[in-house]
Amino acid sequence: MNKKLEKHGYFIERNFLNRNTVDLLCLYSLKSVRDEISIPGHDDSIEHKLSWNIRDDGHAAFDSILGIMTDKMIQLCKVELFPSYYYQRIYLEGADMNGHTDRPACQYSCSVNLGQSEQYPIYILDKHTDRYTEALLEPGDALVYMGCEQRHFRKIFRGDWYSQLFLHWVDETRPECFWDGGLSAEELLKQYTDQWKSILYRK
Ligand SMILES: [Fe+2]
Repeated sequence: MNKKLEKHGYFIERNFLNRNTVDLLCLYSLKSVRDEISIPGHDDSIEHKLSWNIRDDGHAAFDSILGIMTDKMIQLCKVELFPSYYYQRIYLEGADMNGHTDRPACQYSCSVNLGQSEQYPIYILDKHTDRYTEALLEPGDALVYMGCEQRHFRKIFRGDWYSQLFLHWVDETRPECFWDGGLSAEELLKQYTDQWKSILYRK
């Protein structure tokens, strides 16, 4: 396993997504709100209602990203990984995120900055020092962390908007971690092209 990940439980990867990709996804996330595809957040113990979120059935532009980034994530973490789950959210002024660890589908996690009006740091508990580290990310940067093990939170957001993407993978060491929806980009494309008739020629 990546030495930093093993020792600290996280590391920051600058330019995890390149500028063109991150700009495309940021635009898509904003347009999804304007076009009323995204949905408002709901108040629960972890997430704040002051946000816009993708629907549970996903959004086309994000469906492939998890699978596309799997090879890079394997190289970075030095662990064999399988795509598990993704989520995209835009935080609005006043939003926050209470401290938590993630559910089992989020073993190896990435929080990627897609674009922002202002900085919005995420805080992650360092396994080695047992103290929180402030991770300041620029668009395209990712915080890579052990989601089920390292607590993380955000303070109240004092900016206008911050668009971010969660990507989650699992390894094979804990079978209970598997989530049944994670497909590679190729599998996803095949799933859609196999259904070309019912999709494209429906009455
Ligand atoms: Fe989380």
